[in-house]
Amino acid sequence: MPSENMKEQLLELEKKALEELAGVDGPSELEKFRITYLGKKGLLTSFMKKLVELPADERPEVGKLANLIKADLSKLIREQGIADIPASITATVDVTLPGREPLRGHLHPITLVIKEVCQIFSRMGFRVVKGPNVELDYYNFEALNFPKDHPARDMQDTLYVSENIVLRTHTSPIQVRVMEKQKPPVSIIAPGKVYRRDSDVSHTPMFHQVEGLLVDKDVSFGDLKGTLTGFAHQMFGRDTALRFRPSFFPFTEPSAEVDIQCVICGGEGCRTCSHTGWLEILGAGMVDPEVYGFVDYDPEVYSGFAFGMGIERIAMLKYGIDDIQLFFRNDMRFLRQF
Ligand code: DAH
Repeated sequence: MPSENMKEQLLELEKKALEELAGVDGPSELEKFRITYLGKKGLLTSFMKKLVELPADERPEVGKLANLIKADLSKLIREQGIADIPASITATVDVTLPGREPLRGHLHPITLVIKEVCQIFSRMGFRVVKGPNVELDYYNFEALNFPKDHPARDMQDTLYVSENIVLRTHTSPIQVRVMEKQKPPVSIIAPGKVYRRDSDVSHTPMFHQVEGLLVDKDVSFGDLKGTLTGFAHQMFGRDTALRFRPSFFPFTEPSAEVDIQCVICGGEGCRTCSHTGWLEILGAGMVDPEVYGFVDYDPEVYSGFAFGMGIERIAMLKYGIDDIQLFFRNDMRFLRQF
């Protein structure tokens, strides 16, 4: 087929299409029109497929014309499509209005506090480490100097997976795992979830702790006091006073419970601090030589301190929250405030 003939046919096809398009009414007719000409088996499409039958030197010219017609038709169809949008819709859409911003998520208050605690201790040179949530009885109790059937275990009634495997009741087992692998000097901070068979207004069966451990030569209780005072000042403000009360933990000797001056009343006495002026925030002490026995450290050479704090408690004091359950209820009215 000579190319002149093909060109004529093409122009004829275009003319027919344009006439037909003028009579098209509404989106479904427009789509039918599109399929008739530009669909897979459409008139123009089929025509273009026939171009290969042309001699090679004539093909480009005719091909160019066919492409032009195709582009024109596509454009006209698009424009017609927009014009077809009913006036009732265009009239009610104000395209100049700003778009709706998607709801943006953010970190949970517990995560925020964990990050802040870790940042403060990182600045003091502590390394952040993690340990397993499902723990061996050996690490959770035994190597922390809680012998089997020792009454100290009762304080941390746990969830047993099997006789020797528990959901960890505290982050302290991470101390042992780190010391097993690394010789002093050691200084780590270990955040994570812990589990206890406990649930009431002030307890949830899962909560969060951050553990700290520092072992080196000549570490004293004074170093522990200085480190924790530095922490409290950065976390709760420079004027926050600290109080160390003697206590007992199987894996530290001596042991202490540490209070900060009540952040609500400034030490005057109020409901939050049960009118004592003090709030307990953590347990701490010098690592018991018994523990060094489990990890092959020489207690004659090394000494160190450890501490553990409840993150929910820190978050409640920092943000003035009076119900621990709020952290886990997923109520957006609460979460949006952070
Ligand atoms: N693991 C203890 C608990 O959950 C808290 C604790 C007390 C951790 C004293 C320590 C420490 O590292 O030295 O009750």
